[in-house]
Amino acid sequence: MKEKNISEEPIRHHSYDGIQEFDKNLPRWWLMTLYGTVVFAVAYWIYYQQTGIGLTQGEELELALATIEDAKAEALASADEVTDESLWAMSLNTVIVEAGKQVYTTTCAACHGPNLEGGIGVSLADAEWVHGGNPLDIRKTVYDGSLAKGMPAWGPVLGDERVDEVVAYVLSHHSAVN
Ligand code: HEC
Repeated sequence: MKEKNISEEPIRHHSYDGIQEFDKNLPRWWLMTLYGTVVFAVAYWIYYQQTGIGLTQGEELELALATIEDAKAEALASADEVTDESLWAMSLNTVIVEAGKQVYTTTCAACHGPNLEGGIGVSLADAEWVHGGNPLDIRKTVYDGSLAKGMPAWGPVLGDERVDEVVAYVLSHHSAVN
């Protein structure tokens, strides 16, 4: 193809500080990108705002939380009788342990330290147990407390489910062998 002489290109009439511009069409790729974003914006608007097919982040969160609740309920229901084994099993279930961690942080951390290291209450992370270190022993201590020594009875306050969860959380810092 023969090169077009640059002086034959149409030039726009205006001149700014002596600078003039060619009068050319916008590049095709640029226009296509622009049209693409317009089409995308309309599709996005319809998908999320008009039809409700796309979930907002809030709805997605609600859905995820509901799934977690279901999994939790299922895991607890399948362990209908509380035993050392079922508590160890719960201590391996991340959903239950996470729920127990929340109970721990709000209810126990003030006395037992944020990382179970102890404080007003004894350490729950070491292998020494005043009232026994089997899961059911720990559960009993948490449930009934050790009132004379300043450990409240949590059973009536928290209820079975949350006691089990917080015990599972404590156990998640230990292993079944020790
Ligand atoms: C008001 C302070 C306080 C709070 C809150 C508290 N504890 Fe305690 N806890 C203690 C004290 C003090 C002891 C030591 C009791 C003893 O020596 O008999 C103790 C002992 C224990 C033990 C027995 C440890 C062992 O060596 O046998 C466990 C398990 C325990 N706490 C778990 C919990 C859990 C789980 C929570 C939260 C639901 C909690 N505690 C909340 C003060 C507290």
